[in-house]
Amino acid sequence: MALPSVRIDPADDPSIQELVALRPWLKYDALDGLLMDGVPLNGIADGAGTPTWVTSAATIRARYDALAGALNEAGLNAGIHYAVKANDARATLDLVARLGAGADVVSGGELRKALHAGIPAAKIVYSGVGKSEAELRLALEHDIGQINVESAEELAMIAGLAASLGRTARIALRVNPDVDAETNDKISTGRATDKFGIAYDEAAALYRHAASLPHIQTLGLATHIGSQITTLAPFRAAFARLSDLIVVLRGEGLRVSTMDCGGGLGIPYRNEPVSSPTGLAAAIKGAFHNLDVRVAVEPGRWLVGPASVLLASVVLVKQTPHMRFIVLDAAMNDLVRPAMYEAWHGIVPVSAAAAMAPASPTTIVGPVCESSDTFARNRDLPPLAPNARVAILDAGAYGRVMSSTYNARPLAAEAWVDGGRWSITRERQPIEALWAGERLPA
Ligand code: LLP
Repeated sequence: MALPSVRIDPADDPSIQELVALRPWLKYDALDGLLMDGVPLNGIADGAGTPTWVTSAATIRARYDALAGALNEAGLNAGIHYAVKANDARATLDLVARLGAGADVVSGGELRKALHAGIPAAKIVYSGVGKSEAELRLALEHDIGQINVESAEELAMIAGLAASLGRTARIALRVNPDVDAETNDKISTGRATDKFGIAYDEAAALYRHAASLPHIQTLGLATHIGSQITTLAPFRAAFARLSDLIVVLRGEGLRVSTMDCGGGLGIPYRNEPVSSPTGLAAAIKGAFHNLDVRVAVEPGRWLVGPASVLLASVVLVKQTPHMRFIVLDAAMNDLVRPAMYEAWHGIVPVSAAAAMAPASPTTIVGPVCESSDTFARNRDLPPLAPNARVAILDAGAYGRVMSSTYNARPLAAEAWVDGGRWSITRERQPIEALWAGERLPA
């Protein structure tokens, strides 16, 4: 099954009103247009310009509480390690740190950002198939909570480095359960042919070996089968395999005290049914409740995805004999998900009057010089004049972090909405920054 993709037939797309009604942090005001937590997006666009990412702090807080609540209610002693890769804005990391989250990081850069945001080293988990020696050294020097080992080769590297630094590395083995997450191929990570994790059949032997190494402390196991997973069956299948493995390891007298269940919980980009944190908590409990392990989760998208919009303005409307194109000032360099995964993002006008006007099939594109720079094809939208503003929805996860400066387009500004006020949390990148680090050859 693919991610909800760009539809040719808009007939079954949710309406603008439906999209907004499903997101209680967004609301139309007849005069002020689309509001985020009561703050007019028009005011933010006036002050910050467009394109600008706008994030609802209250939404991240509410989602964190809902996830933590679901895990608690299931009776799980679970650590939440926010997947920094989903959105590594300073404001976001600061917020999740204050909420008490740990972090899941996948590079030295993310590790340093998480530490800088005040996330305690003890609550940081480091995953990834290619951690360099310098990155592993950084992790060991900061004595982070857990390194998720993805291969025998990496285990040897870590053991050697830990010995040379006189440290003990706390590790978990990331196991590849060979389960299809039934999501977009490009973001599936738990099939035997994917590059991630240790092959299921080799995991027990490697764990035994790891447990015998000086300078290595084996905490347990980890898995992560993919992202934007909308049903529980793949989670259940993966967790069942991991729980079997824990029983095997314990049968050999080995200690297994933690189980890191990864991230992956999907969100509804359209109006599709998607499993909930309660369902995920039940799946975790079902597999691990009688094993007395400390569980961890690594959510990214579910926490921050719905909380941001990408605010953009119409540059012009281009009518060809075949199509009405709305050209925005935002582009694939800002939000690459539609171009990269054919991902479907809701697009709604900021003006309340426009939102009520009769809609007709429209293709929404950016100004970048390639046809993949298309946000939506044949989408039912009302007429939008130049300078009209639109909000591209659910842009909080894998949005700003995947931006580039392709076509010499500076990185967009960012604004933060909290307590009925807004502020700029990142200036639009100055054009000069695009060449600031470059030199002519000697
Ligand atoms: N843990 C690990 C080890 C991961 O690799 C990931 C995501 C997560 C946790 C968080 O997964 P989430 O809860 O956000 O699904 N750029 C793609 C998504 C790539 C996900 C990569 N790994 C997209 O825009 O859909």
